[in-house]
Amino acid sequence: MSSKVKFQSLTGMHDILPADQPYWRKVSRTVESVAGYYSFQRIDTPIVEQAEVFTKGVGQATDIVEKEMYMFRTKGGDTIALRPEFTAGIARAYIEHGMYNLPQPVKVWTTGPLFRHERPQAGRYRQLHQFNFEALGDKSPSLDGQIIQMCYDILKELGFKNITIEVNSIGDSECRPYFKKILASYFKAHKSSLCSDCQRRLKENPLRILDCKDEKCQRVKAGAPQILDHLCDNCRKHFKEVLEFLDELQLPYTLNPYLVRGLDYYTKTVFEIVEKTDEGTSQGSLVGGGRYDGLIKLLGGRDTPACGAAGGMDRIVNLLKTREDLKKEMAKEVKNPPKVAKNEKEQKAEIFLAQLGQLAKRKSLKLFEEFREAKIPVAESFSKDSLRTQLKAADKMGIRWVIIVGQKEALEDFITLRDMTSGVQIEIPMHKVVDEMKQKLK
Ligand code: HAM
Repeated sequence: MSSKVKFQSLTGMHDILPADQPYWRKVSRTVESVAGYYSFQRIDTPIVEQAEVFTKGVGQATDIVEKEMYMFRTKGGDTIALRPEFTAGIARAYIEHGMYNLPQPVKVWTTGPLFRHERPQAGRYRQLHQFNFEALGDKSPSLDGQIIQMCYDILKELGFKNITIEVNSIGDSECRPYFKKILASYFKAHKSSLCSDCQRRLKENPLRILDCKDEKCQRVKAGAPQILDHLCDNCRKHFKEVLEFLDELQLPYTLNPYLVRGLDYYTKTVFEIVEKTDEGTSQGSLVGGGRYDGLIKLLGGRDTPACGAAGGMDRIVNLLKTREDLKKEMAKEVKNPPKVAKNEKEQKAEIFLAQLGQLAKRKSLKLFEEFREAKIPVAESFSKDSLRTQLKAADKMGIRWVIIVGQKEALEDFITLRDMTSGVQIEIPMHKVVDEMKQKLK
């Protein structure tokens, strides 16, 4: 009997054919290079975890867990799930391997497939792929700035021109509960104008209504109170400093007071990066992330602040494939794939960037980015505030040149360059540093 069955890949899951591989390679290489520059180390966690890692971590009432998670019961009676995202699994690994004993922050990156049983539509898959960064064990707003900068760098390096960063702060356990009450009473007064999902969200988490794409809900949302008016002092200060970093880095951001994100673990900063089309409309987020200071404790670890982001590789590849300027180059690569580089020497940092004070930290992040663009590796320890600790770190790494940006330097736009072998220090105007260091490293 001849079979008429025609097998196809499952809905929302797709093959990555040889013709598309150069695009994927381009994205992966860009991610790896930015991650390496910012001293993030590779981590890989299993594709399957105990379901509770996500129900607890991402939140039982979120769409990702409630509607979209692939969950199974094993023959042994365990409930396991295909990972719908990376963060909770990485937090689990951080706790399990006692990574709080390592120098903090622990900065890790990964890429791989994830699974969400979403309604298929353009740019929305059931097997999706992300690149992901997490920095665990540091509460400094400079880290939020660094993560945003890294994601922006990747998109910029891939040739995206029309991208903006939407940012918001969603507060923490001190200020958010009160805001939720105010928000709930506002939405209760407009309950009949909300979609049925949001009427239910009103009970579970009114913040999620701000995320709803339904037109009716969008209209109600337009008059809703804004969390930025209700942040506690700590969250307000943190957010102000994050924005100061973004200003210093000259990143194109807009405040979106209604950005809440669909995962429960976020605290303080949340952000998304979107590409605007010619009509000014967005095609969905390419990157999403934020701070999650409560997640590790929630999963049974110590109180550990953390921050991270993930980018949708499928969406990014889809957009790259529409670009005329890449078509020839990519087609060539299909026929003649690049050989794996043999013994490619990893470039070791010969410069350490040390900073002292808030303004200096901001200027240092900018300088760090200039060095990255010039492809000169630089080591840093932005999360450390003491100059002595930073000089010690440089010494331990055997680095000869230390660039010091202190308060005076930051105010007067110069740096002090210390030669660690001779102890000699000289001053260099900030705008000349990269060129001068190029000469010294020749
Ligand atoms: P997310 O916003 O759920 O965040 O996903 C990040 C990115 O993955 C989105 O901006 C989008 O580009 C892509 N993405 C999400 N769902 C799909 C889908 N069904 N099909 C194709 N692409 C999709 C997270 O996953 C957080 N874990 C990010 C994070 C890391 N926050 C802190 N650390």
